Amino acid sequence: MMAYPANIEQRINDLLSRMTLEEKLGQMSQHSVGGPISAQLKDEIRKGRWGSFLNAGSPADRVEAQRIALKESRLGIPLIFGRDVIHGYRTIFPIPLGQAASWDPELIRQAARVAAREASAAGIHWTFAPMLDITRDPRWGRIAETLGEDPYLASALGAAMVRGFQGDSLDAPGSIAACVKHYVGYGAAEGGRDYNTTWIPERLLRDVYLQPFHAAIRAGAATVMSAFNDLNGVPASGNPFTLRQVLRNEWKFDGFVVSDWNSVIEMVPHGVAAGPREAALIALRAGVDMEMVSRSYYEHLKQAVESGEVDQKLIDDAVRNILRVKFRLGLFDKPIPEKVAAEEAPPDAEALAVAKKLAAESVVLLKNANRTLPLSKTIGRVAVIGPLADSPVDQMGCWVMDGKASDVRTPLAAFRDVLGAARVAYAPGLKTSRDTSRAGFPAALEAARRADAVLLFLGEEQILSGEAHSRAFLDLPGAQEALVEEVAKAGKPLIVVIMAGRPLTFEKVAARADAVLYAWHPGTMGGPAIADLVLGVESPSGKLPVTFPRTVGQIPIYYNHMNTGRPPSEKALGIPTGTPVDPQGFDSKYLDVDFTPAYPFGYGLSYTTFEYTNLRVSSPSMPMGGKLTVSADVANTGTVEADEIVQLYVRDLVGSVTRPVRELKGFRRVRLKPGEKRTVEFELTTADLAFHNAENKLVTEPGVFHVWIGPDSTRGLRGEFRVTE
Ligand code: BGC
Repeated sequence: MMAYPANIEQRINDLLSRMTLEEKLGQMSQHSVGGPISAQLKDEIRKGRWGSFLNAGSPADRVEAQRIALKESRLGIPLIFGRDVIHGYRTIFPIPLGQAASWDPELIRQAARVAAREASAAGIHWTFAPMLDITRDPRWGRIAETLGEDPYLASALGAAMVRGFQGDSLDAPGSIAACVKHYVGYGAAEGGRDYNTTWIPERLLRDVYLQPFHAAIRAGAATVMSAFNDLNGVPASGNPFTLRQVLRNEWKFDGFVVSDWNSVIEMVPHGVAAGPREAALIALRAGVDMEMVSRSYYEHLKQAVESGEVDQKLIDDAVRNILRVKFRLGLFDKPIPEKVAAEEAPPDAEALAVAKKLAAESVVLLKNANRTLPLSKTIGRVAVIGPLADSPVDQMGCWVMDGKASDVRTPLAAFRDVLGAARVAYAPGLKTSRDTSRAGFPAALEAARRADAVLLFLGEEQILSGEAHSRAFLDLPGAQEALVEEVAKAGKPLIVVIMAGRPLTFEKVAARADAVLYAWHPGTMGGPAIADLVLGVESPSGKLPVTFPRTVGQIPIYYNHMNTGRPPSEKALGIPTGTPVDPQGFDSKYLDVDFTPAYPFGYGLSYTTFEYTNLRVSSPSMPMGGKLTVSADVANTGTVEADEIVQLYVRDLVGSVTRPVRELKGFRRVRLKPGEKRTVEFELTTADLAFHNAENKLVTEPGVFHVWIGPDSTRGLRGEFRVTE
């Protein structure tokens, strides 16, 4: 936790003693301003009507509004300006799901730092990130914003983002407040349809969905956003169990909670409040301190306090939480900038370097038959084909508010840069990912015929993922599969690069391609990063942060599932798929598709090969409260220098309740030269093995555990240890 001056609480108390009830409710209200801050709004700021704005005006508008709040309002309480700085401000990094594929907390911290620096220079104090929703459903469009399916990975990376945004202290230059969202369970939307109902037993909530939030709060996250979803019958923005019991009482969170956009009054259609007044009372009592966009607090709470229906203390507590964050950010004390640049600066060299490195580390090599990749830089000609080869907006991905298409370097531009325009034949084949016209096919085939290798940039447009953009089919949209078939007729090495906001299903295309790179939506520097990988300047090193299904019908499919009484075995893979004939008996499987995923969690290839040997567990047992180390030797047995992400998994063999078949408990990115071997060591404590039992108590139970060190969630060297009483 960060340390803040002790006198903050005194200053808050002093202000509270002088504030009117209207001024307090103003602090609890956040207004969304699409354009400039109008004269009327300025007047309202003078009167203390608003505590916060989102999406407000230009940097100069924000400075002026802040000047009015500080100098011309009765008590001089500053505004807090929030904005969705989700994966970059001006410089756009890969979508969060792509960043998660890097398994690189330090680089992710650096990217968040760059975003905070750029945003704070534009007068932003607060970002609505990181998004820490765990999801097991790639249909859900917001999977793009998540850090994947695993609570351990999302915790490590989410905490790193918080540290990046907030720096060493909130009032340091270039720091902005983080907001962890969407608290909580939002990613479990039934059917992957956005905003849908969630049912999450408390044990699962605590073991999986709450974990990344807890980690981010421990890392000092200043604010929390309450979610849209109905959680077990109680909407998350009116849920005293998650907001008061867990967040405040158990975790001792002392920042503030903001609702999601209108989520307070959406409790009316959810059917737990008869109208906005009741919604306001429910949200306030549950622990939502600031209302985003809707106005039920300001319009109804005054009367509710005056009539005695609501305790004034609830209002004071909410205002106290909000003011505390404003003080911590230094907003009361920071000088108002005299001049604001009219134009925002384009990304600087440092920002672009971080964006390129993160884009490169986020790309996952899924297939590389006969070492098709890397291509040699001396290759004659390449054909660059596909709707995502030169599509700057799509390449940036969803939730981009301040990134500029003109800053983006696409793969087409990057290959032309490196190889020279004469060696790059470009024929998009399709205008967009959803295009169904084959009019561009002949030109694409012709380009392929005249090239030595074909680079096909496929995937989905950015508009197909993100909020309220769920999909029921996860295939490559439009005529992309047909384009692959067409171009394959040229008989040239076929390298498919997929840009998407989620795991897609593309088994046929993968079978047809010689190599497949999964690049997510890689952001501003995606093009140069991909060119470096394709041409072997760098080896791919990303690993999947989420399980890739073969088909939508397998969803939910995730690695850390429970066993069944009849787990499927390898023999079930022999079933002729697509026919309802079952020669193999009664296992937990499908008749028409393998039970295994297309690609498992943690999976990703490299241009080199890594060999894992010599698993050691420092002791055959550890007493409760003790620790041990697990190590293995990892050697680069190939011919190029590369990073490997070494993963540690455990399985608790017998519990008082069923336990996942594997759980990630550690990971490390190691760089190895050809022939180099290194011992990678992890420490495990009995606290790391804890879970919530049938009484929802956090316990580690004695017994035998399996432990693996390996390259993904399905392989690795296995050892064993026992936890004793
Ligand atoms: C989204 C949030 C976002 C907020 C403010 C909502 O619709 O769910 O993630 O931060 O809008 O733009």
